[in-house]
Amino acid sequence: MCGIVGYIGSGDPKKVILEGLKTLEYRGYDSAGVAILDGNKFKRIRAEGKLSILKEKLESEIFSGHIGIGHTRWATHGKPSERNAHPHSVKGVSIVHNGIIENYADLKESLKDLGTEFLSDTDSELVAHLISAEIDSGKDLFTSVLAILPRLSGAFSILAVSTDQPDEMVAFKNGPPLILGPAKDEIIVASDVQAIIKYTKDVIYLDDFEIAHIVGSKYKIFDKEGKIIAKKIVHIDWSPEQVEKQGYRHFMLKEIFEQPRAVAAAIAPHVDLNHHTVQLSRLGLGGTGVEDLESLNLIKDYQNTVEKLKNVNRIFIVACGTSYYAAMVGKYVIERMAGVPVEVDIASEFRYRNVVIPKDSLFVTISQSGETADTLAALRLVKEMGVPCLSICNVKRSTIDREAHGHLYMNAGAEIGVASTKAFVCTLSLLNILALNIGKIKETISSSEEQKWVREMLSVPSQMEIVLAFDKFFAEASHTLKKFRGFLYMGRGVNYPIALEGALKLKELAYMHAEGYASGEMKHGPLALIDESMCIVMLAPSDELYEKTVSNLEEAKARGGEIISIGTGENTKLRQISEHYLPLPSAAWFVNPILEVIPLQLLAYHMADALGHDVDQPRNLAKSVTVE
Ligand code: M6R
Repeated sequence: MCGIVGYIGSGDPKKVILEGLKTLEYRGYDSAGVAILDGNKFKRIRAEGKLSILKEKLESEIFSGHIGIGHTRWATHGKPSERNAHPHSVKGVSIVHNGIIENYADLKESLKDLGTEFLSDTDSELVAHLISAEIDSGKDLFTSVLAILPRLSGAFSILAVSTDQPDEMVAFKNGPPLILGPAKDEIIVASDVQAIIKYTKDVIYLDDFEIAHIVGSKYKIFDKEGKIIAKKIVHIDWSPEQVEKQGYRHFMLKEIFEQPRAVAAAIAPHVDLNHHTVQLSRLGLGGTGVEDLESLNLIKDYQNTVEKLKNVNRIFIVACGTSYYAAMVGKYVIERMAGVPVEVDIASEFRYRNVVIPKDSLFVTISQSGETADTLAALRLVKEMGVPCLSICNVKRSTIDREAHGHLYMNAGAEIGVASTKAFVCTLSLLNILALNIGKIKETISSSEEQKWVREMLSVPSQMEIVLAFDKFFAEASHTLKKFRGFLYMGRGVNYPIALEGALKLKELAYMHAEGYASGEMKHGPLALIDESMCIVMLAPSDELYEKTVSNLEEAKARGGEIISIGTGENTKLRQISEHYLPLPSAAWFVNPILEVIPLQLLAYHMADALGHDVDQPRNLAKSVTVE
């Protein structure tokens, strides 16, 4: 949940680290700090609050050295404050840490018994004490890190420097990502490629229990026993511009507007534009994992994948947050198109219940970041059982992507805003494609249906462009809508998870009370909430459940709620019942969720902006949840 950047080279560490941390601020933003060599000491400067505060503090600082580490924090142990901010330094050792040291309390107690004084409330400071003690006993930095690792449990990544070896950095990964970018005459280490791509697009992903020892501009990578290992250099295929706002006020708004292009990129690899057919491309389910991905025999893989999908009798989809709501939509679509029963689960629940996975099941994880701790744990659990695992990820070569057998990529490009938008619509599009493909393989859909539905999918980007025009409406309406006490989002069938997603967006961005409900459940409780202070957002596209949805809307209206309804095309009835009616282009039932979510994203975005909240970095949240 935190962001780490390290730099060694001939350039200016302060500049590289600050720029890198800026791109990683999505990972945590409650405090930040750096330790940069100046003379023969690492000078440490930290600040509570956003990175901009640290930046101001560093304005007049000049460092004579060419090595340093930096960190942007999302608090787990110890509240956000300068004393808890990283780096943590003990004597000449400075470290930055991402993740959780689970046995820190016992280790801390035993060090305290020996007279060690702790200056923070974090689990991280302990690491600096342990390394420092090893150095005091005569070891160098690298052997000291190697020596302490067996004593630590949990999922964490660490980057350490020491005044004793002022041209060395040691990086260790077990859990949260850590990537090396060996550029010309310099090396950058970071939690995400975004902090590296400006300098090099050729990077090395550390795997769990690997240690990188960097000396000057040279590096070696070791396993936990200290044996050197050879690592593959991976070329990143996106550009630094993708992590800039490009004229938009916020990343979130830019990402909302990128959605038509993102959806086109998500589906393009899997559809034949000439024949309007679908074929999951480069899925990898027939292979053994990402190590094969580059050299995968695509024809053989496709045949194996088809064979596997033909025999699939049950599908489990597991995810968290917005990705979980996408999974819920997937259940409706796959069951209806392919006739395969689908179970969806929140990863943090799934991993701790006694899951029963029948033979011939397919396990699917959805994760934008590919690093979500609970989703990763669920994947590992199921992989152990020998079940084929498919990941739907945005970040290529993230841990989940690398560990799954099969891979579908959202192709959304970098998503920086903490609130997920374009990754969600790309996932919905991929789930449609997956459902279509399974339906085709299992012959639950005819070839004319396949062609018709592929055409529907191909027209989604241009339909999305039309829906984006509601931006103007919400920019104005948000100023009056912000007076409501609460928001109730409702929908039926495939639209129900979109109601949940709309409510989540409003909660996380506007910090307002919002609930998502299946419309049919309204009479079973939430109706009591409705009065003039409640705003009802009703998803009422023209589908087979439309009439029932309209009845629910009438009931809400009768209790005094303010109604925003979202339907299909011109609709006098909805216009008459609602204070605000937003018409969507006419689309297939499985396309409606992709279109409906756009006004809900815009509503949350403009409400947060009207309330003066930080849209891209909502309070208490972080983009990538790499801890439980
Ligand atoms: O990276 P993931 O898709 O695994 O992340 C899952 C959730 O943490 C994420 O969707 C979260 O709910 C977002 N903040 C929602 O906007």
